[in-house]
Amino acid sequence: MSNVIVITSGKGGTGKTSFAANVGMALAQMGHPTLCLDCDVGLRNLDIALCMTDRAVMDFTDVLSGRCTLNWDVRCPTEKVGDFDVECAREFWLGFARSVPATLHFVQFAGGNSHHILEACWKGMARALAAAVQVDQAHRDEIPSTKGLLV
Ligand SMILES: Nc1ncnc2c1ncn2[C@@H]1O[C@H](COP(=O)(O)OP(=O)(O)O)[C@@H](O)[C@H]1O
Ligand SMILES: [Mg+2]
Repeated sequence: MSNVIVITSGKGGTGKTSFAANVGMALAQMGHPTLCLDCDVGLRNLDIALCMTDRAVMDFTDVLSGRCTLNWDVRCPTEKVGDFDVECAREFWLGFARSVPATLHFVQFAGGNSHHILEACWKGMARALAAAVQVDQAHRDEIPSTKGLLV
């Protein structure tokens, strides 16, 4: 059973973000799966309060409008891996993101071998997708989606 807590006021600077960050953190620390959604389109700053600015790559308007993007920060040192054109990897995942639809981020932290780098992209995404569709045994009968459906 999930609960929705709405924190709102007609005035800016009244402490909504601070309250949301602290209550959200407290609930998470108590073991409740917690989603904090900043609905301030113009001045989103919950990510700053939670020290997650570097990880805030989209806002809720991206979700509502179904915008999907590919962040491809992958640098392969060669143009080919065998017969495979390395530049096709980005095109493949862009097509995938648009078809799902989903927003995907591939960020390369290390690696100097094109074969291994691309292999890690496919394996990493496979693991992420497997985790995303896994049934949470604690919430078997619920749909784990803010949209209330999975497509
Ligand atoms: N309980 C509080 N006491 C004093 N200052 C606060 C309190 N809650 C928030 N603030 C400060 O007020 C400012 C606005 O808070 P913020 O949470 O960003 O408000 P809002 O999201 O409503 O615009 C921030 O500088 C914040 O540090
Ligand atoms: Mg705010």
